Amino acid sequence: LTLTLSALALSISATGAFANCDSGEIVAKLSHVTGGTSHPKVVAANNFAERVNNEMNGKLCVEVYPNSTLFGDSKELEALLLGDVQILAPSLSKFGSYSPKYGVFDLPFIFKDMDAAIRFTQSEAGKGLLHEMEDVGFVGLGYWMSGMKYFSANKPLIEPSDANGMKFRVQTSDVAKAMIEAMGASPQPMAFSEVYGALQTGVVDGQENTWSNIYTQKFFEVQDSITETNHQLLAYLFMTSSEFLDSLEPEVREQFLKIADEVTQEANLAVKAAEAENRQNILNAGGKINTLNDEQRQKWVDTMKPVWKKFESEIGADLIEAAAGA
Ligand code: LMR
Repeated sequence: LTLTLSALALSISATGAFANCDSGEIVAKLSHVTGGTSHPKVVAANNFAERVNNEMNGKLCVEVYPNSTLFGDSKELEALLLGDVQILAPSLSKFGSYSPKYGVFDLPFIFKDMDAAIRFTQSEAGKGLLHEMEDVGFVGLGYWMSGMKYFSANKPLIEPSDANGMKFRVQTSDVAKAMIEAMGASPQPMAFSEVYGALQTGVVDGQENTWSNIYTQKFFEVQDSITETNHQLLAYLFMTSSEFLDSLEPEVREQFLKIADEVTQEANLAVKAAEAENRQNILNAGGKINTLNDEQRQKWVDTMKPVWKKFESEIGADLIEAAAGA
C-alpha cells in the first residue's frame, strides 16, 4: 500500500495536476507546454485554476498539466477536438493548419512592443480573430501575452548576416520559416519540448524565444549568447472547445467566462514584470546578452520586413494594417 501511495504521489507531482477534484464536479484539464515558476503562462494557468477551484467549487474543477506532460505541441489541438483535454493556451504561431490569419502576430517587427500588441488584441480586428476557428470547434477565451522574442545561437549574432548557413528551430509557422530564410539560414520546425535537446546536441544552432522561455527551459546554458532583437511577439490563445463550452449549464458557463476574462486581463498586466525578471535571472545565472545599437537593429528590420509582402494575401492587408497601426 505504501508503495502504491508513493507511486501515486510521484505521478501526481510529475504531471503537475494539483487540484483535488471532488466527485460530482465537472473536470476540465488545462494542458500547456511551458514550465518553471516564473513563466507568465505557468502563472496565468495556475491563477485560472485556483480561481475556478475556489469560486466554482462543487461545479467545475480545473487541473493544470504544464511542461507538455499531458500533450505536447503536436497533439494538443487534436486532443482538444477529441475531448481529451478542455483548455489550452498554445502560441498563436501554432494555428497555421487551421487559419493563416494568425500569421499577422508573427510578422517581424509588426508590434513596437507588447503594449501595441495588447492594443491590437483589444481592437475590433483583434477581437474578431478570437472567433476565427469556431467552424473547427475552437473557441478563443482571450489572448495571453508572453513577451517579445530574441534570437539565441551557438555564436554571437550581431547582424542578421551572422546567421548565414545556420539552422534555427522555429515553431510550426510559415511566417517564421520565411523570416529565417530571409536571414540566409534554415528553419527547422520542432515541438517546444524538444528544443533544449536539439540545441544541446547541435541538431540546430539557435532558436528564438522570450526571456521567460529562454530562462525556464535553460536554453541559455546551451547557447553562446542571446541577442536583444525584439523581432517578434510571442502570445497565446487561451482557448477551449465549443463542445466543452456548450456542455456547461448557462450559469456555470457565464462564471467560467467571467473568470477567464479577469485572469486574462490580470495576466497581461503582469507579463512585462515577469519578462524583466527572467531577463535578469538569465544574467544572474551567467547567460550572456548582446544588445544592438540603432544601426545594427535597422539591419534586422531591413532583412526581415520584406516577409510581410509574402503573406499579405493570405493574412489580409486590412488585418496587417490594423496590427501595424495599433
Ligand atoms: C515555443 O514553442 O517556442 C513557444 O510557443 C512555447 C510557449 O508556449 O511559450
